[in-house]
Amino acid sequence: MSTKILVTGGTGYIGSHTAVELQQAGYEVVIIDNLSNSNAGVIDGIESITGIRPVFVEGDCTDIATLRRLFEENPGIKGIINFAASKAVGESVQKPLLYYRNNLNTLINLLDLMPEYGVEGIVFSSSCTVYGEPDFNPIDENAPIKPATSPYGNTKQISEEIITDYVHSGAPIKSIILRYFNPIGAHPSAKIGELPLGVPQNLVPYLTQTAAGIRKELTVFGDDYDTPDGSCIRDYIDVVDLAKAHVIAMKRMLSPEDTQKIEIFNLGTGRGLSVLELISAFESATGVKVPYRIGARREGDIEKIWACPDKANNILGWRADVPITETMRNTWAWQQHIMSPGKQG
Ligand code: WQD
Repeated sequence: MSTKILVTGGTGYIGSHTAVELQQAGYEVVIIDNLSNSNAGVIDGIESITGIRPVFVEGDCTDIATLRRLFEENPGIKGIINFAASKAVGESVQKPLLYYRNNLNTLINLLDLMPEYGVEGIVFSSSCTVYGEPDFNPIDENAPIKPATSPYGNTKQISEEIITDYVHSGAPIKSIILRYFNPIGAHPSAKIGELPLGVPQNLVPYLTQTAAGIRKELTVFGDDYDTPDGSCIRDYIDVVDLAKAHVIAMKRMLSPEDTQKIEIFNLGTGRGLSVLELISAFESATGVKVPYRIGARREGDIEKIWACPDKANNILGWRADVPITETMRNTWAWQQHIMSPGKQG
């Protein structure tokens, strides 16, 4: 009897890749998603990779009755991975209440129902954004949490506090909090990947759409930062590496061994790449030129941040190992797939 896991936001970018890795590790996957930032075709993509169609419930986790019905109709869920959240930094500044309502009510509803339905643990999708602009790099889990620079980042900080307070209140659950750096790339099958709706806010989808001719040129938001080539530095982590970390975290959290009730891990490669370096990595990996210009800085951007992944490497036994060139080739293959006629997803 395989262990049943609920993946909220499971038709989204990281959620869908994690659903694939969970199934391939032998878990039974139930997905709930309100399709506000994805589409149901992703379920076909997951099935086409693993040969197993996950249970899919279209619904909103901010409605506790919907979640209660899901747990009633899918008994035996032992763990949750919570991806369901709004995640656009800029949009969160324009619509803070949408972000606080969606991201916090979703988490509170899940936590509230877990003991009632025997759910033992929750893996929470957090972000390096909780660190703000770090005083030094690489950054480990003991780095200070700085005041959030956006409502989106604040919802991640508050969510971590909610989980901590709930566990410390004696709730019979455990949690592993995963702080992602910058997820990029697509599944090597090119059957699932990042599906940005509208104009992409993030670098890599905008870059691939420019390479594909959908966008005229990429704007590099500033080259006057205090970095070797003047452009901002990030820790770009392959989405499949990231997904695998969730499976390892879930296994650890549900294992009978006596681990702490709450653990926090930074998920990054430990390697910083500038915007200009990423552009050249894409060009050399694919042979496709990316027209770009240098523009003004983007408000709220952090100058440089990359992870110290030692804790995840040593305690989880997980390491990001997909080379950036492979990530670039996979993301380009995905971009070409979604432009092909009659595509799934
Ligand atoms: C990366 C770099 C930009 C677009 C955000 C969230 C983070 C996570 C990932 C959810 C920056 C530069 C970008 C462009 C550019 N979100 N850039 N031209 O801002 O590091 O992180 O998304 O989990 O929590 O904060 O990612 O991809 O937007 O930007 O030059 O058209 O690329 O200035 O230096 P970011 P990003």
